[in-house]
Amino acid sequence: MEKFKSLLVEEVAEKQFQASIRQRDLAELPEGDVLVRVQYSSLNYKDALSASGNKAVTQSYPHTPGIDAAGKVVMSTSPDFVEGDEVIVTGYDLGMNTSGGFAQLIRVPAGWVIHCPEAMSLRQAMSLGTAGFTAALCVEKLIVNGLTPASGSVLVTGATGGVGSVAVALLHKLGFTVVASTGKNSSHAFLEQMGAAQVIDRNNLAEVNPRPLLKEQWAAAVDVVGGDTLVNVIKSISYGGSVACCGLVQSPALQGTVLPFILRGVNLLGVDSVELPTATKAEIWRKLAHEWKLENLDAICTEIDFSELEASLGKVLKGEAVGRYLLNLN
Ligand SMILES: NC(=O)c1ccc[n+]([C@@H]2O[C@H](COP(=O)([O-])OP(=O)(O)OC[C@H]3O[C@@H](n4cnc5c(N)ncnc54)[C@H](OP(=O)(O)O)[C@@H]3O)[C@@H](O)[C@H]2O)c1
Repeated sequence: MEKFKSLLVEEVAEKQFQASIRQRDLAELPEGDVLVRVQYSSLNYKDALSASGNKAVTQSYPHTPGIDAAGKVVMSTSPDFVEGDEVIVTGYDLGMNTSGGFAQLIRVPAGWVIHCPEAMSLRQAMSLGTAGFTAALCVEKLIVNGLTPASGSVLVTGATGGVGSVAVALLHKLGFTVVASTGKNSSHAFLEQMGAAQVIDRNNLAEVNPRPLLKEQWAAAVDVVGGDTLVNVIKSISYGGSVACCGLVQSPALQGTVLPFILRGVNLLGVDSVELPTATKAEIWRKLAHEWKLENLDAICTEIDFSELEASLGKVLKGEAVGRYLLNLN
């Protein structure tokens, strides 16, 4: 029986969770069409929630988190994949209630699997991971809704995080003027290096403001924060501009008025990276491998192995992480 290494999170007592690196048997993986030897995974906020026992993300334990995986096909019952194919699996149920990418093997339905573009390595794919992919989805939605570099500056909240840092780098690459909002004073130079033209303190956006509209400041925004921050951002978008909303690190609540929408024609664009059809996912990955390829990915990424995984997940959970964590499973 083939053994493989994985992170296993167990519920050791009521609401008490413990993670350890364990050898598991292939037979413990769920049924599926495609068995993948994972070479790289990456850390996302949702993984930190799953690894800490958040039952809104993962209902039952023991469990192996990891919503991202990139590797080579070992076995496939689907005609779409053959042994040796380089593939990416992100989203759907991977790492939530299906054994995830913090393991050397995953077995998943063929409908979750995407061929890694030829112009992208597995390492590059997971340097981006779900966070980078989501940043690209946000940028795509803003552009489809009319944003051009001439529209004005674009705000990115949670800018040092996974989604935020890739959004800053990608918007800069595409010629936009980027304003980065962060809570980390020590990371201003990092954000400028990624392409931010201006860095602002996130406290300016964090508190409830009773006014229904604020001064128009940005043509568009990528928001990972939600809550009062998102409300303030919506109130500060210029006439006809858009906000791509993808996260909730401050709060899932949204307590504002409709005035920015009906007086300024502001668009609130929802962004989901999980349940998108694979054809749409493949097109975004293709763009990231070609015209949206980021040459400075290594500057955003910290590569870790199993021994550093728990400590890194702790940083992500506390909002202390800067950039992306790439997990090398080789
Ligand atoms: N919709 C989707 O499909 C999708 C996909 C991926 C991620 N997401 C969501 O997007 C969000 C960000 O994910 P991520 O992977 O980028 O997480 P991350 O790497 O942990 O980054 C989040 C960043 O938000 C800022 N932050 C943390 N706590 C905050 C608070 N209380 N108030 C304001 N800002 C705070 C921090 O940046 P600064 O210190 O720079 O402010 C932090 O680095 C999460 O809610 C995640 O679930 C959604």
